[in-house]
Amino acid sequence: MDIDDILREVDPNFHAVPQEKRNLQELTRAWIAERSAPELLPWPADGLFERVNDSIKRQIEKVEEMTGDMDPKTNFALIVIQTELERFKYLVRSYLRARISKIDRHTLHYLSADALRSRLSGMELAYATRHQALLHNHYLSSFLSSFPSALQNLNDSAGINMVESPDLESAVFIRLLKDTLVEGRGVDSDGAMDGRESDIVILRWADAKTLVENGSAELLVITIMAAPSPNIVLVTGANQGIGFEIAKKLAAEHKDYHIVMTGRRQEPLEQAVNSLKSQGLPVEALVLDVTSDDSIAAAVSQVTTKHGRLDVLINNAGISEHTFDNTPDIPPRQKWSLILDTNVTSVAMVTDAFIPLMEKSSSQTKRIVMIGSIMGSLSCRVNKGHLCHNDNYTAYCASKTALNMLGLHYTIRFEGDKRWKVNVCCPGYCSTNLNKFQGFNSVESGAVNAVRLATLGEEGETGSYSAKEGLIPW
Ligand SMILES: NC(=O)c1ccc[n+]([C@@H]2O[C@H](COP(=O)([O-])OP(=O)(O)OC[C@H]3O[C@@H](n4cnc5c(N)ncnc54)[C@H](OP(=O)(O)O)[C@@H]3O)[C@@H](O)[C@H]2O)c1
Repeated sequence: MDIDDILREVDPNFHAVPQEKRNLQELTRAWIAERSAPELLPWPADGLFERVNDSIKRQIEKVEEMTGDMDPKTNFALIVIQTELERFKYLVRSYLRARISKIDRHTLHYLSADALRSRLSGMELAYATRHQALLHNHYLSSFLSSFPSALQNLNDSAGINMVESPDLESAVFIRLLKDTLVEGRGVDSDGAMDGRESDIVILRWADAKTLVENGSAELLVITIMAAPSPNIVLVTGANQGIGFEIAKKLAAEHKDYHIVMTGRRQEPLEQAVNSLKSQGLPVEALVLDVTSDDSIAAAVSQVTTKHGRLDVLINNAGISEHTFDNTPDIPPRQKWSLILDTNVTSVAMVTDAFIPLMEKSSSQTKRIVMIGSIMGSLSCRVNKGHLCHNDNYTAYCASKTALNMLGLHYTIRFEGDKRWKVNVCCPGYCSTNLNKFQGFNSVESGAVNAVRLATLGEEGETGSYSAKEGLIPW
């Protein structure tokens, strides 16, 4: 059922439907053609605009007549007619504007020959003539009057033609309305093809014009849709382990995500990034040592220059007591400082530094993921039956407990705004350098929950502490 059927149903006396429909179709065609053709097309000579104007007037009268009637059937019809009226009005306005802008751009050209003048309606011709006279007077009073009189003409076409004309060589899309020979001029040589009805062809307007004028083809408006901009994700410590897997999984499974993989050491970072790039994944490398304010500032500046925003931040970089296995002489206070600095302070510094860029994200959800650990859970720690009860990684566990607090801090900072999702994620006990490869889960499984949290939609959670199996008690 289309709009005409609805009209007929609510108002059986509505007889003008077929003509209205034809008017609308013709108007739409004229509008599309005018918007697509690089030059002004002839004003419709078949009285289309007079009919459309009459029809708009009739519809306005009908609306006025029906307004105030409380009958629901009439009210419904009123809404339908008003919608239809708006459609007509939009098309008329847009059609006339397309023509006026062409006339404004090349006024002298359209006034320069009878054949061109005849393309304008009476009102358009009056407008163009007056427009040109005003311009000429303005130029005269501004500077032309100081020229010798022979140089005062704007429509000088002797020698070098001073009248600008539309570019007839620009490309247009046409649809063939019947089988026909399509001829076109190329750069190296000309060509011809046997076109079939409904074929869509791109041609220079100069070549397409005859086909359109003799009714063998009609102009089309082709809208080239811009590719949606990807979600920009930044992952810290992405050159190996779980961070690398998160980047890989995100890029491989979410085509609209672009991953900025960061790491503190350039060479292994580039190796990691190149291994994913060689698989065609959209990733890039950015050096970022999370414990250095200068490095953080440089990274923010580079992401700003290149992307102008950040949609997802994954704070993954971390160290544990094992980091010092080969340097046992480092004093315990220094180890503690480094672990807390990397796993907590630096997460806060990185997050604070990138939040202004995340605020620039136009994504429906801005997601911050903190890679924590179940070893930071106070509830698990006090539970005598839990694996974490007797853990000896004191500084590491304390750092992950502090990270949970950081997660809550940012959750609460944005709790009034549903677009922000801040969550703490435990990857599970995975075999990585952090635990000297003692973990019994794969890094692939360690990336699962982080990728889920990095791609949460509007209804996704915030302020959670979870593993892929479910929520973890704080
Ligand atoms: N593996 C597990 O079982 C497990 C369990 C729970 C939580 N987690 C957490 O998961 C995250 C990733 O650890 P992982 O297991 O994948 O360990 P990993 O393989 O050792 O990876 C840690 C990453 O962090 C980077 N990093 C360390 N200090 C950095 C700094 N100052 N600046 C920038 N990057 C730095 C490392 O870079 P380099 O290569 O240069 O050292 C490496 O890329 C950590 O937050 C960890 O606490 C792991």
